[in-house]
Amino acid sequence: MAGFPIDVHLSEHGLLDSIAEDVRRGMTSPQKYLLPKFFYDEEGSLLFEQITELPEYYPTRTELSILTDIADELMGRVAPREIVELGSGSSTKTRMLLDAGYKAKTLTRYIPFDVSQTIVESAFIELQRRYPGMALHGVIGDFERHLGLVPPAEGKRLVLFIGSTIGNLEPKERLELLGEIRKLLAPGDFLLLGMDQVKDIAVLEAAYNDAVGVTAAFDLNILKAINNALHADFNVAEFRHRAHYNRDLDRIEMHLYANSPQTVHIADLDMTVEIAKDESIWTESSHKFTEATATSMLQDAGMTLDAWYTDPLRYFGLALATAQG
Ligand SMILES: C[S@@+](CC[C@H](N)C(=O)[O-])C[C@H]1O[C@@H](n2cnc3c(N)ncnc32)[C@H](O)[C@@H]1O
Repeated sequence: MAGFPIDVHLSEHGLLDSIAEDVRRGMTSPQKYLLPKFFYDEEGSLLFEQITELPEYYPTRTELSILTDIADELMGRVAPREIVELGSGSSTKTRMLLDAGYKAKTLTRYIPFDVSQTIVESAFIELQRRYPGMALHGVIGDFERHLGLVPPAEGKRLVLFIGSTIGNLEPKERLELLGEIRKLLAPGDFLLLGMDQVKDIAVLEAAYNDAVGVTAAFDLNILKAINNALHADFNVAEFRHRAHYNRDLDRIEMHLYANSPQTVHIADLDMTVEIAKDESIWTESSHKFTEATATSMLQDAGMTLDAWYTDPLRYFGLALATAQG
């Protein structure tokens, strides 16, 4: 990538290779599961971009509208010299903040951090064109393992963790990750955390069961990603996608159900998995928050809520937080 460093701590399949044990654990658990971070191979990253444009999938456009509204005020208030973004993906929404910081001449560096090298490299092409003179430094890694490898701060920092990716983690992992994120913040630095809010169940379930089946293709792609990375033979055509809302735990649960009994070989794990007809593999949880649950989650991780930004329907929330002293 011309002129700009990309530190690679994982190869494109490295995440899957390095967490083969997670696949073994998931496939031997009474409720079989795969972790959502396995979704994002090259194909999965492209499918996620298509999801963000679906009419039913309100989170991306709602978060974008909030970011558009608050960008100038937020970047004036925080005035970061650099933005570190976790799970940056295509960096599309981030451009609202980059535009504001670039225009104000306060922002000089952007550090996108993602598991997908392909998506960071393609984001760089547009970023270089749009922000001549701004330093870019990509990091390819797992934010649950490699946050210590983020380049040292060169000034006041805003850490961005948007897209509701935090909602994919279970409470224990979430707390651990927020604790690690806290270590990226010096006094005066900020975290901006994007979260999907609790709302009408029909709206939530429609967003994860879209009419044209892009979410189904994204969900099923996890089996292809595992076939490729671990030499497995999941018969993708024999699984169907379904997402439902769990009211007690305030989360969407996404599953792949077997249409018929399946015997799957995972060569790299030297493992055979039997899956009964209509048995499911749980592929994603997407936890939903309120301002109150977001505030207490941040407090538990040693951070203080400084501001809460939302949209008129209260569909999405962005929490601005600082580390407690
Ligand atoms: C839900 S998408 C959000 C993308 C983008 N931030 C947005 O708001 O549209 C999640 C992003 O996080 C990345 N990701 C998921 N798990 C990750 C992990 N453990 N470490 C680093 N990146 C991860 C994925 O590759 C993907 O780009």
